Amino acid sequence: MSQAFAHEEVVVRRGRRSGLPLIVAVHSRALGPAVGGCRMRRYDTWRDGLTDALRLSEAMTYKAAVAGLDFGGGKSVIALDRDTELTPELREAALEDLGELVASFDGSYRTGPDVGTGPQDMVVLRRFSPYAYCAPEEHGGTGDSGGPTATGVLAALRAGARHVFGDASCTGRTVVVSGYGSVGSRVAAGLAAEGAHVVVSDVDRSRKDAALASGHGWVEPGRALSAPADILVPAAVGGVFDEASVPRLTAPLVVGPANNQLAEEPIADVLAERGIVWVPDYVAGAGGIAYTLGRESDGYSHEAALDRVEGIGDTVTHILDLARTTGVTPLRAARQIAEHRLALAASRAQPA
Ligand SMILES: NC(=O)c1ccc[n+]([C@@H]2O[C@H](COP(=O)([O-])OP(=O)(O)OC[C@H]3O[C@@H](n4cnc5c(N)ncnc54)[C@H](O)[C@@H]3O)[C@@H](O)[C@H]2O)c1
Repeated sequence: MSQAFAHEEVVVRRGRRSGLPLIVAVHSRALGPAVGGCRMRRYDTWRDGLTDALRLSEAMTYKAAVAGLDFGGGKSVIALDRDTELTPELREAALEDLGELVASFDGSYRTGPDVGTGPQDMVVLRRFSPYAYCAPEEHGGTGDSGGPTATGVLAALRAGARHVFGDASCTGRTVVVSGYGSVGSRVAAGLAAEGAHVVVSDVDRSRKDAALASGHGWVEPGRALSAPADILVPAAVGGVFDEASVPRLTAPLVVGPANNQLAEEPIADVLAERGIVWVPDYVAGAGGIAYTLGRESDGYSHEAALDRVEGIGDTVTHILDLARTTGVTPLRAARQIAEHRLALAASRAQPA
């Protein structure tokens, strides 16, 4: 993140019910209202929560722009300190506080679940504002976005396979899926149905039985990244690729939803130097937001929203072609596409 103040608006407020620090960071509304989920987690200080909100809202701007969405980037954070006991009452009070804050943006900042919050929490926010997405269907939302996110990952994966292997089909390929959760388990199921040899991994040992029962292979988490594979799908946590782990990778194609997979941006160059095609995480993982905004904001049917999610395949092809022809990493190519959209929007917004 640059050192200049690049954000349009940042609000920090102490919740009047909860007393907790609430942060809404709006990085850009150049393409439309800012969107970004609500993170509730513990930080050493609330200032770390502010740093998180600034960083994540900027990332949302690029995620929405490269996905072709007419939305900008934002993020909200409810910052808990290390000692706060998060009782159900405090949790509800904090969510009500945030709902009130989101309402004050009158639609120019919109939220949804993120780390530490889920669809049910959006029901509380919606007491104050309709701009809290992914509430359960019975409360007027579209619920957990894991399914559409997995659909987008599969579209990205096929586009990546066509680029790397000359064939989008994953039949007969060995795919390691690291993280057998909401998204990873669905990606694994989709690939297995297509005839791929799927091997999964998870730090939660209780997931092993479910994986084996579904007919997948299993690899211990410590060996997942280096296990022989044609395709590696990071679907667990961020920061998995660094100077130590990249030399151990065997798969020529890496594509998955886990956020912030690179420990730092220059790792994109290290991956490229090893001849590994890495599809940027925020491109591969955009299916959930594309679907949710399509359904809950743009009035799309389920089918039309899924079509938009499938469009992630074309986006990945565009990024990988641009990267190949201009000799840059896919990360840089994605950034260029996003920056081009943002610059066009900025030039249109200039007074004549
Ligand atoms: N759910 C969505 O719509 C969505 C959208 C975009 C991006 N993402 C990102 O994709 C990733 C997966 O999301 P999810 O919704 O499936 O989460 P999840 O919590 O349902 O599943 C993650 C799984 O990874 C496992 N895990 C944690 N650390 C691990 C490690 N070091 N090695 C192996 N497994 C590990 C967990 O035990 C869990 O089973 C996350 O990084 C998330 O931020 C999710």
